[in-house]
Amino acid sequence: MEQTFIMIKPDGVQRGLVGEIIGRFEKKGFTLKGLKLITVDRPFAEKHYADLSAKPFFNGLVEYIISGPVVAMVWEGKNVVTTGRKIIGATNPAELAPGTIRGDYAIDIGRNVIHGSDAVESARKEIALWFPEGIAEWKSSLH
Ligand code: CMP
Repeated sequence: MEQTFIMIKPDGVQRGLVGEIIGRFEKKGFTLKGLKLITVDRPFAEKHYADLSAKPFFNGLVEYIISGPVVAMVWEGKNVVTTGRKIIGATNPAELAPGTIRGDYAIDIGRNVIHGSDAVESARKEIALWFPEGIAEWKSSLH
């Protein structure tokens, strides 16, 4: 079954949006397979965002991600990568639709509350990076 990596960024945690965000994924019908509150260091954040290392905003992005605890999660379900990105909303604030997480709670591209893997392959890499200890096993036949 498809899995994605979702991270509530430091601004989302500090603004008290953790419950709201988890609720949206749960109510959609996805299965929570991994969850932890973690403050990452600079080398770790640089690894997570390695693909963006040439971007002018890279240092600011890394500073922001290490500025406080984040909630790292693995969600599982049909088309969860694509649908997860739809639940999250666009990266560009000008395209943000109300009803999406960023559309409801973010106005700034650099403080956008949440991250979600952009493809199945990046999800696999991100889950391996953030959850080297593995993720939960559900015994229920529903999952
Ligand atoms: P995320 O989904 O975590 O993936 C890459 C992140 O880079 C993105 O969310 C934004 O937070 C950040 N980002 C993308 N473009 C810009 C930009 N132009 N200025 C600042 N941050 C950006």
